[in-house]
Amino acid sequence: AGKDRRGARGLRFEPVAPNTADAVTVPEGYRQNVVVRWGEPILRGAPAFDPENQSAAAQAGQFGYNNDFLALLPLPGERGRQLLVANHEYTDEVLMFRGYDPENPTRRQVETAWAAHGLSAVVVEEDGRTGRLSAVPRHHLNRRVTATTEFRLTGPAAGSALLRTSADPGGRTVLGTLNNCSGGTTPWGTTLHGEENFNQYFAHGSRATDSRYGIGTGATERKWERFDKRFDLAQEPNEVHRFGYVVEFDPYDPASTPRKHTALGRFKHEAATVRMTADGRPVVYSGDDERFDYFYKFVGSKRMRAGNGRAARAHNLTLLDEGTLYVARLTGDSPAAEIDGTGKPPADGEFDGGGEWIPLATATATGAVSHVEGMTAEEVFVFTRLAGDRAGATKMDRPEDIEPSPRTGKVYVALTNNTNRGRSGYAAADEANPRNANKHGHVLELTERGGRAEATAFGWSLFLVAGDPEDPATYFAGFPKDRVSPVSCPDNVAFDPHGNLWISTDGNQLGSHDGLFGVAVRGERRGELKQFLTVPTGAETCGPLVQERRVLVAVQHPGEVDGATVERPASTWPDGPGRIVRPAVVAVWRADGADIGV
Ligand code: FEO
Ligand code: CA
Ligand code: CA
Ligand code: CA
Repeated sequence: AGKDRRGARGLRFEPVAPNTADAVTVPEGYRQNVVVRWGEPILRGAPAFDPENQSAAAQAGQFGYNNDFLALLPLPGERGRQLLVANHEYTDEVLMFRGYDPENPTRRQVETAWAAHGLSAVVVEEDGRTGRLSAVPRHHLNRRVTATTEFRLTGPAAGSALLRTSADPGGRTVLGTLNNCSGGTTPWGTTLHGEENFNQYFAHGSRATDSRYGIGTGATERKWERFDKRFDLAQEPNEVHRFGYVVEFDPYDPASTPRKHTALGRFKHEAATVRMTADGRPVVYSGDDERFDYFYKFVGSKRMRAGNGRAARAHNLTLLDEGTLYVARLTGDSPAAEIDGTGKPPADGEFDGGGEWIPLATATATGAVSHVEGMTAEEVFVFTRLAGDRAGATKMDRPEDIEPSPRTGKVYVALTNNTNRGRSGYAAADEANPRNANKHGHVLELTERGGRAEATAFGWSLFLVAGDPEDPATYFAGFPKDRVSPVSCPDNVAFDPHGNLWISTDGNQLGSHDGLFGVAVRGERRGELKQFLTVPTGAETCGPLVQERRVLVAVQHPGEVDGATVERPASTWPDGPGRIVRPAVVAVWRADGADIGV
């Protein structure tokens, strides 16, 4: 891999070499700073971070734990400022609380963890002189949403018997959001947040639907069910049906009630990314991050209204309530016998083929219709995985983030890994998931028929088969492999202003830390993948946002290494030796102030 500063426009930087430093490492000539860390006070009245005396009340006014998805929204009228929205996917109690006893968590610890989940909205401000980006505490738009904030269920399953609980007999009001992984930003000025591994918070599952969603039959590791019976399915069987949705948040209205959209289905939503049809309706892509699960598309039937007036905003907040939910079925164009599970391409030289979006259910203003035999529409929206099973959707290698290119409309699907592929009792490799024991993952490029977002058919090919480029079972869109960075476990994807795809990783299996990579998807440098940064020990790289002059990443779960605790940390990032490890958002910019990668 070269000391090559050339590259596609936007990717002209010297690649960072794979490493295991307990630091964020950026290319030569670039600078970085921590924008905001777990525990920093962002709301009026919140106390300074004190890890030895953390409480739910303090945490509810401070930046949450394990930042994942990031959005930056404009703040007209406030120069040099933007509104940052971050997901707080989950908590690492052993790294948060000194002396934490996993068998006997205290109420104080559990309630603090509830307050550390959810979302943060926090205004950030650029220092024009130094390039640093920092949080503006106490801004009136700053907000925390936690595991106990009130949410409204909307769309076709809201109010259904499947969603009613003893605390909410109407089935329309839920407390909290959990495991918000990645997300998306809508063209109407809101953010979307995928509730991913919600199963881990619920104890004593017993139904077939519980097991299909990975809900265990015993106690949970966190033991929240000891402190609130809604986490115990034996006592409150429907509470779990109220998690696993796409959440919509209006960061410009701090008094707004966030929504959970049942029309987008219930599964382990990794993310939700929006594009618009030519006639102004939203299309939302979302992957279900589980080995052998599916990816989906929702096509809305209502048109977005232009402008930021009250009526337009209120209308646009209902756009995701009506439309059709589809699941993807992919068919390879090469004979199945040519897919041997090693990653060796078939005779036509490409892993590629066609696909169809299979409709599962349609929600309208007057009701909802199921397209799946044997399931009602409400069942399709609440037990979406079972609908995908019945529809014959294609079992993928963990569909994570999905991003349509704003330039070309082609859609990129990160498939992070699947070490069970091809094992006895599991599905074997197919053309769309061509490696058995797939530990490095791949990225699929999907082209909607006619370039129409609402198309029901598509073509696809594998853009990237990840791993060490010296491994013959890797593919970088045909680019010479002696000139690319090694990459493993693609997770989040984003586009920069030049149309390059940026990929962040989770779980690198090549012996170095996770990181962020940029790759051209068009032109003669298509497939030239270059590493832009690496993250500290135990961390995953999340939330990448690539603006003209700044890259933001969420450093999630630094120090999360087997056996690590507050007393025996694996990482002391970002504050150094003797200080508690803290997930944080990092900004990177060029020392000379010029645009990234030009
Ligand atoms: Fe929360 Fe699939 O990563
Ligand atoms: Ca083929
Ligand atoms: Ca993720
Ligand atoms: Ca992940």
